[in-house]
Amino acid sequence: MAGSASLDLAPVVRSFLDLSDAGGDTIAAMLNDAIDRKAARKGWPKGQVDADAPLAGRVLAMVFEKNSTRTRVSFDIAMRQLGGSALILDAGTSQLGRGESIADTARVLSRMADGIMVRTDDHAKIEEMARHAHVPVINGLTDRSHPCQIVADLLTVIEHRKALPGLEVAWFGDGNNVLHSILEAAALMKFNVRVATPAGFEPEAEFIAMARDAGCAVTLTQDANAAASGADVIVTDTWVSMGQADTADKLAAMQPYRVDAALMAQAKSDAIFLHCLPAHVGDEVSEEVFEGPQSVVFDEAENRIHAQKSVLLWCFGLLG
Ligand code: CP
Ligand code: NVA
Repeated sequence: MAGSASLDLAPVVRSFLDLSDAGGDTIAAMLNDAIDRKAARKGWPKGQVDADAPLAGRVLAMVFEKNSTRTRVSFDIAMRQLGGSALILDAGTSQLGRGESIADTARVLSRMADGIMVRTDDHAKIEEMARHAHVPVINGLTDRSHPCQIVADLLTVIEHRKALPGLEVAWFGDGNNVLHSILEAAALMKFNVRVATPAGFEPEAEFIAMARDAGCAVTLTQDANAAASGADVIVTDTWVSMGQADTADKLAAMQPYRVDAALMAQAKSDAIFLHCLPAHVGDEVSEEVFEGPQSVVFDEAENRIHAQKSVLLWCFGLLG
């Protein structure tokens, strides 16, 4: 009984732990597919299944060891729109939270679900999950990176009629997981990144090298105005990521890196403002910028759905 039917259905297993797992050509294909699928379902109810229902019958297990609104909802809705379904395991209520190993969890989830999405702290945990899983594993954020977010960010940039090659992206604040994935995206899609952080809060050298080795200009500065000058995209994120200590020293050091109207005015007049959310308005971004005409943060949030659909299709061997 375990014969030809299961062989015929032998699934493609592609994990998406970081953007480089897919590569530049595939990211471009993901973006094109996301644009097409988004256009094709314009005006439809959000739960309606895409005409081709490419993931019909597939189920995604989502493991959350940290809080989430966008990642959790966008992957669930993405699976529904592709004709499949999703379920959630919280660390606190699953056996993972009582010490069951990642290896065993990966093997069990691989028998029960067609794919696994994980949000966790240590990146090594998701690598271990992928090593032991027999189905695609997707990074829904680790302390090191947030690749799914950046597919949505690139989609948002393109929608606002900006070409990726040669784009000048300026980052302000903490050199964190989101910035790491922006630097990785720069390497793959050939754009330049100016990074304005306080001393001691720069991104990891590995990601700077990745972009520079690919021929991108990466500028590290403590001068926020210099970073913003002539930029096409202004982007920031929380000064204190999940799991980090909320130290007064860090918050004090971050003050000059708030994206406010004066900083936005240094950028190109048609520059857009991005923030992955959740935002701390008044800290990393002023209310005037967050609510202002250059802010596209809610397009960016919606695009998590459209971007995640492309990631899922690639993981299941249906794209690229
Ligand atoms: N941007 C993002 O990943 O949001 P959530 O933490 O709400 O998932
Ligand atoms: N850098 C933030 C992103 C949240 C989506 C964090 O890790 O908390």
